[in-house]
Amino acid sequence: MAKKPSRTYVCTNCGAVHAKWAGQCDACGEWNTLEEMAVEPLAASSAAVRGGKGRRVALQALEGEIKLPPRTQTGIAELDRVLGGGLVPASVVLVGGDPGIGKSTLLLQAASKLAGKGERVLYISGEEAVDQIRLRAQRLGVAGAKLDLAASINVADIVATLEAEPDVRAVVIDSIQTMWLETIDSAPGTVSQVRACAFELIRAAKRRSFSLILVGHVTKEGALAGPRVLEHMVDAVMYFEGDRGHQFRILRAAKNRYGATDEIGVFAMTDRGLEEVSNPSALFLAERRGNIAGSAVFAGLEGTRPVLLEVQALLAPKGGDGAPRRAVVGWDTGRLSMLLAVLETRCGLKLSGMDVYLNVAGGLKVAEPAADLAVAAALVSAASGVPTSPGEVYFGEVGLSGEVRQVAQADARLKEAAKLGFDRAVLPRRIARGNTRSRPPEGLHLREIGHISDLVSAEMEAE
Ligand SMILES: Nc1ncnc2c1ncn2[C@@H]1O[C@H](COP(=O)(O)OP(=O)(O)OP(=O)(O)O)[C@@H](O)[C@H]1O
Ligand SMILES: [Mg+2]
Ligand SMILES: [Zn+2]
Repeated sequence: MAKKPSRTYVCTNCGAVHAKWAGQCDACGEWNTLEEMAVEPLAASSAAVRGGKGRRVALQALEGEIKLPPRTQTGIAELDRVLGGGLVPASVVLVGGDPGIGKSTLLLQAASKLAGKGERVLYISGEEAVDQIRLRAQRLGVAGAKLDLAASINVADIVATLEAEPDVRAVVIDSIQTMWLETIDSAPGTVSQVRACAFELIRAAKRRSFSLILVGHVTKEGALAGPRVLEHMVDAVMYFEGDRGHQFRILRAAKNRYGATDEIGVFAMTDRGLEEVSNPSALFLAERRGNIAGSAVFAGLEGTRPVLLEVQALLAPKGGDGAPRRAVVGWDTGRLSMLLAVLETRCGLKLSGMDVYLNVAGGLKVAEPAADLAVAAALVSAASGVPTSPGEVYFGEVGLSGEVRQVAQADARLKEAAKLGFDRAVLPRRIARGNTRSRPPEGLHLREIGHISDLVSAEMEAE
């Protein structure tokens, strides 16, 4: 007896599958993101499996010769680094990002660069007409590249084209949410369409061995199926992030089957497109004003790259009757509360009657606990009115009893600080055993502290 196709519901935000419809997705907590999806009856496929149509799969020993996939560098170093060294043939990369952040710009620049190296590259847009893409290419100064363009949303047509084109090395699809398959009975951008279109394109990429780059819009409203729905189908997922009000953009890998996920690429958006930023610290510190209380420089780490950032704190007498304000941009609110409590309890700093504002300048988001010491220094400086020394950087994790704890990669942080002309570093005291820190860079004076109160007394002494 043939079963009726059953119904399931898929969250357009996170891709979780639910048996029943609900107003809120219990996997990710978003509202109104569940969408109905038809599921084909399993009868046909399970008959094929049980009917003995399968052939034996060759089994192999774990030990054996390894052939690493050859990589094609796009020629944009910041992108290649995040990819893990370049594009891998027959692999699929999903590039997600907020509307207008610069996805099309990045990929048009990368595709042109790759085409310029003599590779066959196709750029297929479902969002813009060929004229618009040409106009952008002119603005970006890549109009001369031997890149093949197409404006289409029809996946059947696109796959037929790809099958007929020999030597295609890379294909950009901008965006997967505009793609459409006639056989799927729903609108472009729905979970069913996005998944089915991606499946067909990925199959073509595996069969013809080209690198496939899919653009995916990130949507909060759930009107379109977000990149999360595709994350498990692709080999690598990258997010292009940035603050529309700021110039710089960061490409971050969220998943990579062919490389590490802790690398970032840094770009600056200009009217001539995206420029690579090979020295992010200089960019992030460019607008720093010396001699202002409440500012401290954090020697941070993004992936394997050291990055210097300015942390700014502002204290103001609490306004009104309610709880004091804790406003944080670029750092964790919970962590700020913890640090404030530690400073108050262990160092006697009176902060509970104050509104606290904390900002990581430039719009970068910091997740490292190593930033604790820089945040504490900025807060102490704001409280005392004494600026931190302009040539000083800070890093170290702070524990609940006020102890300053070791963090990874101290040497790399110190080296970056010295490179940018800093002459003092405040950092965790070395523990006697397992001490692997090499000699500090020339001209850098280290002040190792074991407890956060050392920070306070030094600041107060300077007063
Ligand atoms: N004529 C222009 N001159 C200068 N900058 C421009 C111009 N047109 C666009 N830009 C910049 O490029 C950005 C848009 O980039 P892009 O179209 O690559 O983004 P996207 O992520 O592909 O956006 P969408 O979500 O609309 O596809 C704009 O936010 C703006 O900063
Ligand atoms: Mg675009
Ligand atoms: Zn969800």
